[in-house]
Amino acid sequence: MVEAQGANEKRKRDVLSGTSSADRISQRSDSGISEGSVLSTGQNQVGAVRKLLVTGGAGFIGSNFVHMLRHDRPDWQITVIDKMGYAGNKASLDGVMKDISFVEGDICNEELIDGLVADCDLVVHFAAESHNDNSLNNPWPFVESNLLGTYRILEAVRKHSKKLHHISTDEVYGDLELNDPAKFNESTRYNPSSPYSSTKAGSDMLVHAWVRSFGIHATISNCSNNYGPRQHVEKFIPRQITEVLEGRKPKLYGTGEQVRDWIHVDDHNSAVLAIIENGQSGNVYLIGADGEKDNKSVVELILKGMGKEASDYDHVNDRPGHDMRYAIDSTKLQNELGWQPKYTNFADGLKATVEWYKENESWWKPLKAETEAKYKKAGQ
Ligand code: NAD
Ligand code: DAU
Repeated sequence: MVEAQGANEKRKRDVLSGTSSADRISQRSDSGISEGSVLSTGQNQVGAVRKLLVTGGAGFIGSNFVHMLRHDRPDWQITVIDKMGYAGNKASLDGVMKDISFVEGDICNEELIDGLVADCDLVVHFAAESHNDNSLNNPWPFVESNLLGTYRILEAVRKHSKKLHHISTDEVYGDLELNDPAKFNESTRYNPSSPYSSTKAGSDMLVHAWVRSFGIHATISNCSNNYGPRQHVEKFIPRQITEVLEGRKPKLYGTGEQVRDWIHVDDHNSAVLAIIENGQSGNVYLIGADGEKDNKSVVELILKGMGKEASDYDHVNDRPGHDMRYAIDSTKLQNELGWQPKYTNFADGLKATVEWYKENESWWKPLKAETEAKYKKAGQ
């Protein structure tokens, strides 16, 4: 299903029907691209209109990316495709919807993806099934979206000689021991644990193969745990904040000793922008902001920040196969592309996130009851 928005309606109809103006747009943009070249010369390109296809742009990270681009690169043309499953939320694009093209559709739809990719310069591929717990209940949608969906994008990118940035996760590397000084870097061996992380690992491998075998222009980033506004209430931090807001206790899996390397979503997205502007094709960049925290400490910080006793949480059933620790070494990104995170104080970032959920009850409330019913069934 396709939904038209504002001034972009005609352009989008043309793209989807594969007719005249879309072809002309596509030919114009094709002529400016030399295959295998660096994506752009970054700040030298400021002012040049760029056409982006953002997959999964109604999800958490993708929608924040669109908001950031409207502010930082207002002349870029953006098309979002999102299948609007349970994690897609049009309200996440409030304030920018009138400036973008929005297509409700599935990245597994070959014809739809072919038309949309033909009409852009660059695909930024966020779309995925993203929640580990869901992948343990039913892996199939993960195989479909993360593997088949990425395959469809790659084939369209190859056919139309477009560029791709593939968004991936640090979970492809498996986990680290709690007391291990090691961190993940670009040379760490893949060792995924869950259906989610294994399908993300597989999608990364597809991208590598398409670069090597077919010479497509693509970059990959593997980022650690994001937090910030517009994150679904199934995820750890928003779940605990909204539990407190609804007068219940946060729920800690198992002992709560597991460590995640937290990064604010805007820092993830500024790194993605640095990579699409200055990254080298075929390269992988790890994104992280030295934000290691154990889950118990995060819950305590949320409780204290919301005026509750730090110990006022419940222990619930642990996640099967629960990864112990993630940690990112982002030296390559910092040295080669000059990227630096802005949110270096986790407590401040968390406080701002709590405020966002307090002020945006209408965004999360409709998702909450169904999410908690699922967790209750699993004893979580
Ligand atoms: P999310 O679940 O909030 O958003 C994913 C979006 O993709 C949703 O809007 C969903 O409707 C859409 N989508 C899923 N399958 C689709 C399909 N077949 N066709 C079209 N749209 C589809 O997830 P997120 O946290 O924003 O994650 C975005 C990307 O970032 C994912 O690729 C994820 O693996 C990666 N990532 C996430 C994190 C994190 O901490 N959340 C960290 C590193 C990497
Ligand atoms: O590392 C990047 C990954 O981070 C992304 O690839 C995933 O898309 C994203 O969901 C996230 O995966 P995690 O499994 O680490 O995130 P989640 O928010 O589900 O859980 C974070 C930690 O908190 C994890 O150790 C499990 C724990 N947890 C989670 C929930 C929902 C709890 O203790 N209680 C909870 O209620």
